[in-house]
Amino acid sequence: MAERRRTAVLISGRGSNLRTLIEACGRPAASAEIALVISNRADAAGIEHARAAGIATEVIPHGAFATQVGFDNAIDRTLHEQAISVVCLAGFMRVLSPWFVERWRDRLLNIHPSLLPAFRGLDTHRRVLAAGVRFTGCTVHLVRAEVDAGPIVAQAAVPVHQDDTEHSLAARVLEAEHRCYPIALELLASGRVRVIGERTVIDDGTAPDAVMLNPASP
Ligand code: GRF
Repeated sequence: MAERRRTAVLISGRGSNLRTLIEACGRPAASAEIALVISNRADAAGIEHARAAGIATEVIPHGAFATQVGFDNAIDRTLHEQAISVVCLAGFMRVLSPWFVERWRDRLLNIHPSLLPAFRGLDTHRRVLAAGVRFTGCTVHLVRAEVDAGPIVAQAAVPVHQDDTEHSLAARVLEAEHRCYPIALELLASGRVRVIGERTVIDDGTAPDAVMLNPASP
């Protein structure tokens, strides 16, 4: 079997996506290994998921750096020291500089709780409810300098119910996130994601430009 791609996950908080990535990479056939977790906050609850799994952790507090590039440099250095080849942003609440994004081009994934390019940015579920759309979902994409933009690797759609609150909708989308992110990481780590222009083609014989998941299916 090919060597697993050493993968780092960057978090700022709860870390439920991190937990599902750790679980998925525990499968014998997984192409990625979660080798490092970096948090910009010492109190991020997600760090515990990493510790419980025996994964190396680093806290790099953004407040300790005078400039954005100083912070990004520290992250980049740590990633290289640990021989990381793929990076997943999972609830990482800092915008990374264009310099960093270019350095990790097509090896840097993010998850966003909407069907991009709709509803980029924060307060996603509140804006989804206000817009009255019938479906929303989540997107895993390769990161570009523009926030919440970049070639889409995987998406999952979920319905919006009439009586949804931000809370109930967020919970439904989060379930979809937990299905989507491990699939997207596996596709990237196994070398099946080809980037053509600003779209991806998945080399699994079906060649869709995005993998659609039905979160209700097994
Ligand atoms: C997720 O909803 C993710 O889409 C967004 O931040 C949240 C992180 O949740 N970027 P968790 O920390 O993975 O539980």
